[in-house]
Amino acid sequence: MNLSAIITALGGRSALQQLLDVGPSAISNYMTRGHLPNRVKPIIYAALTAKGYRVSADDLEILAAPSKLPTSDMATNLGPRILLIISGGIAAYRALETARQLQKRGARVTGVMTESAKQFITPLSLAALTGEKCYDHLFSLTDEAEMGHIQLARSADLVLVVPATANFIARANAGIADDLATTILLATRAKVVMAPAMNPAMWAHPATKNNFATLTQRGVHMVGPERGDTACGEEGEGRMCEPSYIADVAMKMVGAISNNHLSGNIDGKKKQAGPLIGKRVIITSGPTIEPIDKVRFIANRSSGKQGHAIATALASRGASVTLVSGPVNEAPPGHVNLVPVTTAAEMLSACTNAIAGKPTDIAICAAAVSDWRVTSVESKKLKKPRDSNAKLLLELRQNPDILSNLSNNKNRPKLVIGFAAETENLFENATAKRYHKGCDWMIANQVGGDDDPVFGSTTNKVLLITELGVETWPKMLKTELAEKLADRIEAEFYK
Ligand code: CTP
Repeated sequence: MNLSAIITALGGRSALQQLLDVGPSAISNYMTRGHLPNRVKPIIYAALTAKGYRVSADDLEILAAPSKLPTSDMATNLGPRILLIISGGIAAYRALETARQLQKRGARVTGVMTESAKQFITPLSLAALTGEKCYDHLFSLTDEAEMGHIQLARSADLVLVVPATANFIARANAGIADDLATTILLATRAKVVMAPAMNPAMWAHPATKNNFATLTQRGVHMVGPERGDTACGEEGEGRMCEPSYIADVAMKMVGAISNNHLSGNIDGKKKQAGPLIGKRVIITSGPTIEPIDKVRFIANRSSGKQGHAIATALASRGASVTLVSGPVNEAPPGHVNLVPVTTAAEMLSACTNAIAGKPTDIAICAAAVSDWRVTSVESKKLKKPRDSNAKLLLELRQNPDILSNLSNNKNRPKLVIGFAAETENLFENATAKRYHKGCDWMIANQVGGDDDPVFGSTTNKVLLITELGVETWPKMLKTELAEKLADRIEAEFYK
């Protein structure tokens, strides 16, 4: 290890002091002794790699200097580098605010704009805001000489697309690389996050849904869209999430990536690549559907949004997630083991199979399991009697309770979490459910309200009931709730 080279690479002694939060004498000691304490090695490793150096994880030897990276005043900060791709939609103006929010959180932002994005905002406004050149041409000779698109793609810790228009999502899905932005998407090895924004009809189109689902399956992390007033003036699902929220998600994803930087054998121990790595999780999501006859069924309004968002949040923190889901329109989250089911009986057997093999750490029952099934399902379509006054009596039997089953199973996961959907007496009913079902935490939400039905909505407002008491969580996006729950779970396992 050459400590002088490291100090130079990190911008001098005072930069190193600041990075390690130590005084000048500590640096002198390291210089005299010629080696570094184990505690500081991962920090230096992460800082050097964030600056683009190739570094040996064993002895912090600098193997290669960064090829020309974009530089700015902020480059002396050791924050993550985020490549912000702006595609051409009316929401493009909100990308500027996203850049600002990212910088507030310590990120270095390099802007890339598509041709159509320039119809909405100028490269100059983004460059002025980020303090860095904004890239917009695939074949600009100067840029190619200074930094090829491959290098631009590789210099990023995260690629963030804000807004991701329907057209951009389609081009990304098809692997088209006909401009700088889409070429970067193909060339990057970094995590990709997209914040879709479009007109509700475009969002609802099966082509868009298909493209979205495929990209998600390939590991692209989607933030939103949400329901509300869209930038084009229509109300519905398709609105881009708030820039501050997008920035939060991006920084969280970069956190996971930074941990990945540390995943080598740095100080004798193998470092973990995500806070929940090694944790096995089972999540139920969506409705169950119970057949009545060949064509009819009993169902409910669950969309699967909340359960799927939780699966995404935990998987992005490194957990190994099995998602047992009833039929939903949600795209399957990336990096989870999806087990599609239809009935409650199928859901139960998928869950018990999942916990039978290996010890499971966490079970989260977010599914709206149908409580009833008909005693005997007709094998053909039930014909309606000619007498219009005739009644049909269906005999129903109770379905097994999956949450109770997991809570009382001999292979019980360490932490079992249920959701209580209540139309009245929220706290009392949910507390009673927690007790009767034997789970550790119960998340209670009021459902069926006229102004916020919860089912199908992108937001949720809940109480978290644990053995310690009750917490009231404010109304938030279901994706935010998923992240908050993931924070709580992390805290529970590392307290
Ligand atoms: N649940 C389950 N299996 C069932 C019914 C419910 O696993 N057969 C789980 C749900 O996934 C949720 C919790 O139990 O985590 C509470 O579900 P909820 O629908 O609120 O309550 P029910 O048990 O169905 O009771 P009720 O319909 O009387 O409110």
